[in-house]
Amino acid sequence: MPTLGRFHYLEALPPDGLSQARLRGAGSGLLGTLVLIHGFPLSARMWEPQLALAAQGWRVIAPQLRGFDGTAAGSVAASVDDFAGDLIDLLDGLHIDHAVIGGLSMGGYITLALFRHAARYFRGMVLADTRAQADPPEAAAGRQRMLTAVRERGAVAAADEMLPKLVCDATRFQQPAVVDALRAMIMSNSTETVAGALIAIVARPDATAVLPTIHCPTLIVVGDQDAITPPALSEDLRRGIPGSSLVVVPDAGHMSNMEQPAAFNAALASFLERRV
Ligand code: MLT
Repeated sequence: MPTLGRFHYLEALPPDGLSQARLRGAGSGLLGTLVLIHGFPLSARMWEPQLALAAQGWRVIAPQLRGFDGTAAGSVAASVDDFAGDLIDLLDGLHIDHAVIGGLSMGGYITLALFRHAARYFRGMVLADTRAQADPPEAAAGRQRMLTAVRERGAVAAADEMLPKLVCDATRFQQPAVVDALRAMIMSNSTETVAGALIAIVARPDATAVLPTIHCPTLIVVGDQDAITPPALSEDLRRGIPGSSLVVVPDAGHMSNMEQPAAFNAALASFLERRV
C-alpha cells in the first residue's frame, strides 16, 4: 500500500494503453481522481473491487483512515472532523485539488464533514449506504454499549455486533468470502482505533442542513436490503441534495460495493461518465 508521510492509501491508475479516444477531453490522459472513504470498523481494502474503475480512466484512491489496519498506531481520531482534516492533508500532499469524493456509511459521514470544511475539493460526490441524520438517542445508547464491549473485548466485539448486519442473507449464504474478508478487516483494527471511530460516529453533527448546499454532481447508492442505513435514508439524501440521483442495488445489504461489485461499479461508472 503506498504511503505519504503518515498516510496510507490504496491506489489504482488507468492502464497505460488506454486509448486517447476513451479519454476524450482529458489532456493528461486521466479523466480525474476518485477518492473513496471506508466504513466502520473496516479498512481501505473494502474498496478493492472499485479499483477496477481505473480502467475507465480514473485514478482511484482509497485512504486508510487514521489508525485503521494497524496504521499510525497510537494516534486516534475522535471526530469526523479529525478524519476530514487528515483527508485534506492527504489531498494536499498528493497535489489533488479537485476530485470526486465519496464514502460508504461512516465514509459518507466523513464525506459530508469534508464538504462542510472544504467544498472546493469536490468535483462530484458519492454517498453509499449512509445517512445525513445524527444518531437518535436510542442509537447513541447502542453505540455506547458497543463502545463498552469493544473496550472490554477488543475488535472482536465490533465484529460480533456488526457482521450480522453488514450483509444481506443471500451474501451471507452464497458469498462466504465476502463475510470472511469483512471479518478479517475488522480484526485488523486495534481496540483504540475502533473505539475512537465509534466516539467520532456518535459525536458527528447532523448534516441535514449541509445537503441543500451540495451543488456538485452527486450519486447516492444503497443496497436494497441495507439493514443499517435502509433505502429510506438514501431517499432522504436524494430529496435533500439538489439534482442528485439514487441507485438502489438489488440483492445487497449495507456493503453494497462488496456484495454486488458489478452493479455498484456500473452505477459509479455511469455517474462518472455522464454526470461529472
Ligand atoms: C459503517 O458501515 O460505517 C457503520 O455501519 C456506520 C454506522 O454504524 O453508522
